[in-house]
Amino acid sequence: MNVEIKQNYEEVSQETAQRIAAYVAAKPDSLLCLAAGNTPLGAYRILREMAQEKKVDFSRCTFVGLDEWAGMDRHSDGSAQEMMYRDFFDPLGIRPEQIVYFDAASDDLEAECRRIDAYIEANGPIDLMLLGIGVNGHLGLNEPGVDFASRSHVTALSETTVTVGQKYFKESRELTGGVTLGIAQVMESRTVLLVASGENKAAAVRGMLHGEVTNALPASILQRHADCTAIVDKAAAGAAE
Ligand code: PGA
Repeated sequence: MNVEIKQNYEEVSQETAQRIAAYVAAKPDSLLCLAAGNTPLGAYRILREMAQEKKVDFSRCTFVGLDEWAGMDRHSDGSAQEMMYRDFFDPLGIRPEQIVYFDAASDDLEAECRRIDAYIEANGPIDLMLLGIGVNGHLGLNEPGVDFASRSHVTALSETTVTVGQKYFKESRELTGGVTLGIAQVMESRTVLLVASGENKAAAVRGMLHGEVTNALPASILQRHADCTAIVDKAAAGAAE
């Protein structure tokens, strides 16, 4: 696993955006999986600016969703999809046929998982995956205890995720579960970028980089990925230096 330690969040965002743009320039028809959440937002802002200046072109890419809160769809305030449409898909003019996402408002989440798995099976593997990391070491909604062999699955949420997850919502929401791509699909992705910023991620980042590989800290599995780069600021790396 490669590690890039940057001075601050802005540098993390710049590095991440440049790497995504370079990847897409080399493979314009990439299958991308870009995480929602707060950490990638800086990179998405920079990619929007680059697209306006014609420095990156996503018109031939496809995008598969990473995860979603159970019961929510793209119109639910604070959902993963709502963030991705607002901060990435809509401003970049990504067409509906380029986007494949869990409908977590469906009555049959298992069927949604099989649909997404079938899509990746037919069109994958994912070329580039951009991930954040939870304070509990989760990747997407692959929570502590997850089966490393998992593909898309419905998951219960850890207490940490239920509490921390409130930051995405204007009004407090009862978070009851989620759907997520699985660790197998993370590990089969050709390239993984993981972004982390801030002191509150330092313990998780330390475990990811230097701890034993254990499903108690799902991100630790990335030590075994052939092409994974963690792009972290000094604060998030603090305990790892
Ligand atoms: P964040 O989420 O980028 O909003 O901190 C990361 C995560 O929980 O995976």
